[in-house]
Amino acid sequence: MIDKLDDLRIDADRMLRSFNELAQIGATGDGGVDRPTFSGAHLSARSWFRDQIEKAGLEFHTDGAGNHSAFLACGLKDSPSLLLGSHLDSVPKGGRFDGALGVMAAFEVLRTVKDEGSRLKFNLEAIDFTDEEGTLVGLLGSGAMAGHLSRDPLQSPRGGRQALAEGLQRAGLSDESMLAARRNKGSLAGYFELHIEQGKRLERMGIDIGIVSAIVGICSYRLTFIGRADHAGTTTMEDRRDASLGASAFTLAAREMVMKEHPDCVVNVGRMEFTPGAFNIIPAGAEVWLEFRAPDEDEFTRLDSALNQCAQKEARRFGLDLKADFLGRHSPTPMSAGSQQDITEACESLKLTHTSLVSGAGHDGQSFAGICPIGMIFVPSKDGASHAPREFTKWEDCVNGTNVLLQTALRFARIEP
Ligand code: HGY
Ligand code: MN
Ligand code: MN
Repeated sequence: MIDKLDDLRIDADRMLRSFNELAQIGATGDGGVDRPTFSGAHLSARSWFRDQIEKAGLEFHTDGAGNHSAFLACGLKDSPSLLLGSHLDSVPKGGRFDGALGVMAAFEVLRTVKDEGSRLKFNLEAIDFTDEEGTLVGLLGSGAMAGHLSRDPLQSPRGGRQALAEGLQRAGLSDESMLAARRNKGSLAGYFELHIEQGKRLERMGIDIGIVSAIVGICSYRLTFIGRADHAGTTTMEDRRDASLGASAFTLAAREMVMKEHPDCVVNVGRMEFTPGAFNIIPAGAEVWLEFRAPDEDEFTRLDSALNQCAQKEARRFGLDLKADFLGRHSPTPMSAGSQQDITEACESLKLTHTSLVSGAGHDGQSFAGICPIGMIFVPSKDGASHAPREFTKWEDCVNGTNVLLQTALRFARIEP
């Protein structure tokens, strides 16, 4: 049976049809999609996925976190599930591959294994996790399933409490259902995800597959620089307590500091908002959405404190107060050695070139560290573009990645002879 399964391949045309249908939901007309968590488009994508699951003769499962999955009972009696998946939510005005490729690939693997009819050690589940992107919280559905979720991130989510509460209501979920979505540890055999690289390395090296060795840590703060509203015409430049200056100076200083002292890290100010926000009022407040990432724990901690000190220094420089709200942190996460080996063997059996890569993007696999084996497979991104409508991956690379996911899952779940 092993030889037979080694030759098993996905139905690429069937997967392409599903991928293209999904890409129409929330399409922005320029190749991208706009499907932020619990938006109308996101909820439509989920009900489309449920419909596809039922049409494919697979079981539909969902939970209190809103995670949606296809389930194939191909495992031994009472066996745990091997999770394959990603996320159908997107960043605002994002690309049609980020997350969607991984869910469609997982779905295609289940359909292929179902058609082939083999028994495996584990059941298979193709899952779409809730709010991977952090429009509301970040790694929300996977964190809830893994049992990491507490009340804090629900009370002060990075996307704002009101947005979260309204979204939960639209989706028929609640804080309580989220907190109750934990799966018991024994029920998860492992987690593998296919994802676009969202960077330039594979394309530059001309390599087919990235085998992820680790995922960076990600941390977010909302910084508020506090000055004093005054008349923009009659207040001298010396007399101003202008919050916009602290926010702007911090943004530039943070970039300089990270490039000089933390070269393998990144920092991003994704939004800056001045209040009250009028041409002729000196800004009393400047809200800055700060996110930073580091590949290892010590560097992550040092960077956190260095950025907070930098913000305090720039606030003092312009006579401002500073409020820093911590909005969440996901630790740097190594992938399991065994999973990387399974992926390597799958690449070699498919005669695909491969290399080991650290992921600069966060992913749901971070939620399952220490709970079950985790592995990630990357395929090349054209020009490294992502989180933008121009995000693109060649279909041949999508098919390669999905066959690697299939062969990895079969290696991981095969019943030893
Ligand atoms: O932001 C990220 O790293 C991922 O795309 N959620
Ligand atoms: Mn993603
Ligand atoms: Mn993303």
